[in-house]
Amino acid sequence: MMDSPTADVMTDWGALHGAAFRGRRALVTGGAGFIGSHLTGVLLGLGASVVAIDDLSGADGSNLAPLRGAAGDRLRVVEASILDAAALADAVAGAELVFHQAALGSVPRSVERPGDFYAVNTTGTVNVMEAARAAGVRRVVFAASSSAYGDAEALPKLETMAPQPLSPYAATKVAGEAVMRAWAHSYGGAGGGPDTASLRYFNIFGARQNANSAYAAVIAAFAKAFLAGEAPVIYGDGTQSRDFTHVDNAVHANLLAAARPGLVRGEVFNVACGERVTVTALARQMAGALGRPELAPRYLPERAGDVKHSVAGLEHAAAGLGYRPVVGFARGLAATVGWYARQHAAAV
Ligand SMILES: NC(=O)c1ccc[n+]([C@@H]2O[C@H](COP(=O)([O-])OP(=O)(O)OC[C@H]3O[C@@H](n4cnc5c(N)ncnc54)[C@H](O)[C@@H]3O)[C@@H](O)[C@H]2O)c1
Repeated sequence: MMDSPTADVMTDWGALHGAAFRGRRALVTGGAGFIGSHLTGVLLGLGASVVAIDDLSGADGSNLAPLRGAAGDRLRVVEASILDAAALADAVAGAELVFHQAALGSVPRSVERPGDFYAVNTTGTVNVMEAARAAGVRRVVFAASSSAYGDAEALPKLETMAPQPLSPYAATKVAGEAVMRAWAHSYGGAGGGPDTASLRYFNIFGARQNANSAYAAVIAAFAKAFLAGEAPVIYGDGTQSRDFTHVDNAVHANLLAAARPGLVRGEVFNVACGERVTVTALARQMAGALGRPELAPRYLPERAGDVKHSVAGLEHAAAGLGYRPVVGFARGLAATVGWYARQHAAAV
């Protein structure tokens, strides 16, 4: 899928982050993926130099292709795994900041392949910290996950709640948070190693999220179904709720965490929109937006590891990072649905 890097600009990044990243050098792991490519594009737009390392196991390289021309030598793409220590050392050399996005995603896929998830998401995260430490990186920002909250009934989910991972994926993400905190305390600050922060993303969506996978995230999967004239599939009764969060909010939180003065010491922050939407309501809204109200969802049994309700409390992220969502759910969904419709029209 090719699109212009400016095709879906919704946020005035210069107004939000000014010159904070101009001339700075960053490594984005998983930089060819959905969130990583948005982050890479915004960093380049703000004047940073970026190395993106990605083994292309979950992306095909097309997300970064439109950025290459305008960025010139400020973008270098390293096609390699974070399990390859030599490639990682080469990619991180000279970086001041690391945005660690590389991972295997999807709860159901992790239930099928727990060992692979442990290797990439947990050992891979240790590798990233060790490479960052050897290279003198100042701060690592880690892509953690709201799946850490599991099925705790209390809502909203707050960072003070004990983690309760229910799937191998969630377990690897909680382990990643532990690595961030432990490395910051053992080696960070005065020890010369990187300071760290973990961002618990809640159901991120937006342009370029992969819809062509059996494990696609729900908004991407629904868009694909409606555009193909098929009923969307809902696992469970559809009353499960999520805090669907446009990708610009995740990018914004990463930039805030990277720029925050002082030491963060592995603290964990929710990154979300703060709005609770059921999956059936989501399907109804997308059916309306795509002009297919007659395509009623098909309900299948709930999947192992899925959680029932999820909505974030954002007070800690506001107090600790100055984070507030920059794109609300409705505006983000409209833009995203429009992007999938344009991709579909261009492909037929
Ligand atoms: N999208 C969400 O809703 C969400 C929610 C919570 C957390 N996250 C986390 O955010 C990060 C980015 O997710 P995304 O939605 O952009 O997914 P994505 O699959 O589009 O991006 C992940 C990228 O990592 C790359 N990758 C996988 N294994 C690798 C390896 N061994 N070495 C190098 N690169 C590798 C993939 O090729 C892919 O490009 C992930 O860490 C994910 O766990 C995402």
